[in-house]
Amino acid sequence: MTIDPTKSIPAFYAGQSILLTGPTGFLGKVFIEKILRSCPDVREIFLLMRPKTGSNVNKRLEKILNLPLFEKLREEQPSQFEKLIPISGNVSEKGLGLSVEDKQMLIERVTIIIHAAASVRFNNSLKYAVFVNIRATRDICILAQSMKNLIALVYVSTAFAHVNEPIIDEKVYPPITNWQKIIEVVETLDEHTLNIFTAKCLDYAPNTYIFSKNLAEKIIQDYSSSFPCAIVRPSIVTSTLQEPFPGWLDNVYGPIGLFIGGGKGILRVACLNKNVNEDAVPVDIVIKAIIIVTWKIGLTTYNHSITDSTPLVVNCTGQKYISYQNCIKMLFNIGQDVPFEGALWTPHTILTDNLILFYILTMLLHILPAILIDLILKFAGRRPMLVQLQRRIYVANRAVSYFSFHEWKYNNANRSILISLIPCDNFDTFSFDCSYLDIRTYGINCAIGAKKFLLHEDMNRLDAVKAHHKR
Ligand SMILES: NC(=O)c1ccc[n+]([C@@H]2O[C@H](COP(=O)([O-])OP(=O)(O)OC[C@H]3O[C@@H](n4cnc5c(N)ncnc54)[C@H](OP(=O)(O)O)[C@@H]3O)[C@@H](O)[C@H]2O)c1
Repeated sequence: MTIDPTKSIPAFYAGQSILLTGPTGFLGKVFIEKILRSCPDVREIFLLMRPKTGSNVNKRLEKILNLPLFEKLREEQPSQFEKLIPISGNVSEKGLGLSVEDKQMLIERVTIIIHAAASVRFNNSLKYAVFVNIRATRDICILAQSMKNLIALVYVSTAFAHVNEPIIDEKVYPPITNWQKIIEVVETLDEHTLNIFTAKCLDYAPNTYIFSKNLAEKIIQDYSSSFPCAIVRPSIVTSTLQEPFPGWLDNVYGPIGLFIGGGKGILRVACLNKNVNEDAVPVDIVIKAIIIVTWKIGLTTYNHSITDSTPLVVNCTGQKYISYQNCIKMLFNIGQDVPFEGALWTPHTILTDNLILFYILTMLLHILPAILIDLILKFAGRRPMLVQLQRRIYVANRAVSYFSFHEWKYNNANRSILISLIPCDNFDTFSFDCSYLDIRTYGINCAIGAKKFLLHEDMNRLDAVKAHHKR
């Protein structure tokens, strides 16, 4: 008996061939795990990856699949891994760096595209950001146009793509500039000349990342008359809430960076407006949102003759508000129960939005002690490293402070509609409602996750670390 895909999400994904870009990233890995585990009849997933020095795409995939994230799937359904097909490519290259054979295979077989690859660094050169985040999105759309059986393309954008709007609706806004022109300019001019024009080009965008995501959304809109597409806009993406287990993460972006830096005694001052509410959303919630959005647009009858079609846009933001001040208070409180090993100083971070005070405190609390400790390390015959670390912390701190000086409101009507459409039988597996989240419990799981998966600390030593912290 065949199950109606409108009434079952796994039935919709049965037999689908997915192309995922960015599979080695934070979101990409959680997407692979979830779709293989919860939609076991998916046909195959093509993973567009770039080889890295010493690792071809097969090796890179093997390394990813050995992560604790995949333990549950490995135990329950090990044969699912056979559905993963790595494809060598590089989205910074024109045409995505695909071989002719791979391109043809994708054209013949892919039915769903999830475009998540991006350079998420705020300080990329304009040229690189345009190539990876804008031109690649265009090239994905060109590839999608030639696909014979494509039913959905979902673009992973960011909730901060339109920082000039105080209230972000679930629609595509006019872009900062014309994406065709900017690709042409960047392809023509040399890096040095472009660097001179970057600030002017960016307009209201605080960095090249936001600029590139802003323009990429317009590309999706411009191609939305060719195939069904959607834009999902997550805010700051944080550790898993529940799936496959709470607390998994692989990066130090957002509040977890503050927590680790503060908890280790390295981050003693941060340039933040403590009264601003930060918006963060667990990664498994974002992935479920992407799965449901794909299901929704994949089922919608698509009319090629309508030329003014528009993508479905979903703001994927947190449903709990907490100010930076309260967040840091809560995290340090959690840090007493789940402290980090090897703290340099008593965990405490001063938050200030006064730039002069921030510079003075950075010199006093970060740079001077770092110089002193580096000198001691040098005399002890060890490698000095703290000044360099503090330099990086300073750059990161300044780069993210823009987002803590501003606050945006989000319209989430499409999220509510989509959640209400999830078939009852699938609700527990696919609902991306996280309004029930208890922030403190989530914070504790994030702290444990950071200790285990980022810092590789042994949880059996927790009592000893706690005793050391008390002293
Ligand atoms: N994480 C967040 O807080 C957040 C928030 C809002 C939106 N987003 C969006 O979500 C998406 C995924 O983000 P993420 O957090 O998973 O980022 P991530 O961990 O940095 O992963 C980025 C992915 O893109 C790939 N990539 C980068 N440059 C590439 C290139 N030249 N060729 C091929 N692949 C390339 C990376 O591959 P390598 O492993 O080879 O580098 C990696 O797989 C992005 O579009 C991002 O803008 C993320």
